[in-house]
Amino acid sequence: MRLILLGPPGAGKGTQALRIQEDLNIVQLSTGDMLRAEVASGSELGQKAKEIMDAGQLLSDDIMLSMIKERISKDDCANGFILDGFPRTTAQAQGLDEMLRSINKPLDAVIEIKVNDELLVERISARFTCASCSEGYNDKFKLPQQEGVCDKCGGSDFSRRDDDNAQTVAARLASYHQQTEPLIPFYKAKSLLFSVDGMQDIDVVTEDINSILKGLTDKKISI
Ligand code: AP5
Ligand code: MG
Repeated sequence: MRLILLGPPGAGKGTQALRIQEDLNIVQLSTGDMLRAEVASGSELGQKAKEIMDAGQLLSDDIMLSMIKERISKDDCANGFILDGFPRTTAQAQGLDEMLRSINKPLDAVIEIKVNDELLVERISARFTCASCSEGYNDKFKLPQQEGVCDKCGGSDFSRRDDDNAQTVAARLASYHQQTEPLIPFYKAKSLLFSVDGMQDIDVVTEDINSILKGLTDKKISI
């Protein structure tokens, strides 16, 4: 299964991608996570990326396309993948289409997670993750069951993202509306688009996504 999760910052792309990854045994490819790994490594690309990410802007299409091309060619993507945070511009979507066509592995679906801007700011400013396993938490919506201990791995170190401040979030939202939202009609025209209401509880969003995925699997079996 080859999927895209599309949605604004804080929509729940990462949260849902991790769940799909476990259920379907396919890899989550988060371009944001890849860039944060570059920043942490101190590479030349990482230094450039940090400046752009802290300003809430997008990195160039060329950089992102070559990063994702390289990643998709790895063995662990043979079974499928979930793209989280890519594509983000029409040029990236067109580049992805060409790449997947050339390896004869077309997309199965694009799932849009819809959430209002006001709620996004609230979610992002309350977000934190486990520094060991990246499990996501939220001061308002999802705290660890035991205070200070990760539910998933038992780790006790947590971190918050540098770009999760009010000013950067506003810029990230503006960039989503201007540059990424046009992908909704782009994929609708290709009959690949499904939408879920991301304002619901995390588990209900997962159920809605699972029923879309089940519909796709049933359709494949009946063909
Ligand atoms: P990226 O890391 O992709 O950030 P983003 O798109 O801004 O999205 P987020 O990761 O903030 O949100 P999410 O949708 O994953 O939400 P989450 O699940 O964490 O990109 C960062 C930067 O990298 C970009 O700004 C850009 O500079 C650069 N970049 C990346 N890709 C690029 C590309 N392709 N081209 C160019 N530049 C690129 O959920 C958020 C919070 O809400 C969590 O606390 C979670 O627990 C909570 N939550 C989730 N769902 C629910 C729910 N249903 N109810 C209640 N709470 C919920
Ligand atoms: Mg994310």
